[in-house]
Amino acid sequence: MSELFDQLDFTENPLYESIINDLLDRQYSVTDNFFSEEEVELLRNSLLEKYEEDNFKKAAIGSKFDEQVVKSIRGDFILWIDEQKANEAEVVFFSKINSLVQYLNKTCFMGILTKEFHYAIYPEGTFYKRHLDTFQSDSRRKLSFVCYLNDEHWKNENGGELVIYKEESGKEIAESLYPLPGRVVIFESQLLEHEVKPVLVSERYSITGWLKTR
Ligand code: OGA
Ligand code: MN
Repeated sequence: MSELFDQLDFTENPLYESIINDLLDRQYSVTDNFFSEEEVELLRNSLLEKYEEDNFKKAAIGSKFDEQVVKSIRGDFILWIDEQKANEAEVVFFSKINSLVQYLNKTCFMGILTKEFHYAIYPEGTFYKRHLDTFQSDSRRKLSFVCYLNDEHWKNENGGELVIYKEESGKEIAESLYPLPGRVVIFESQLLEHEVKPVLVSERYSITGWLKTR
């Protein structure tokens, strides 16, 4: 084989292909085991360590709202992740993200140029009311990405489902997705309204992020 061919990767990635097909078909995709059990555990430990160091902030919804209003809309705590200062777990996380982004750009010309990700913790009793991720008028948000870091004992009765709302043949349908460890949900930021149902038991852990165009 010539060196040139060694450098070019023509192999189709079936996992990424199915994500792309689902996005084209219905504007969202759900992938279980996108991250392995070990990866989820590393990422959850990283989140918990930073949470104990008190680095998380109450999530906001733009500057015009006071704390009470924010609380009636969303109750999670977040911490933005700096890729330049990534720890071991985050390096693994970003290597998977970057490989997906490269594939999307190469095969679908998505034009994803930047990305942003934060950890999120929803304490018991918190939720995030129905919204669109571009409501803060960040129109560069193209794809929303959520990955769940709960442990293997997470039960459906714990609540905290992600509900995605969709128009289908003139009717609204809602799909509920449990925040299962290793599960990744990707959806069109500009198109799909969604919400996080109240967490009834325990704390809910995740990483949320956006793949952005110019
Ligand atoms: C968000 C969001 C969904 C989830 O942070 O904007 O909608 O399932 N998260 O955590
Ligand atoms: Mn959202």
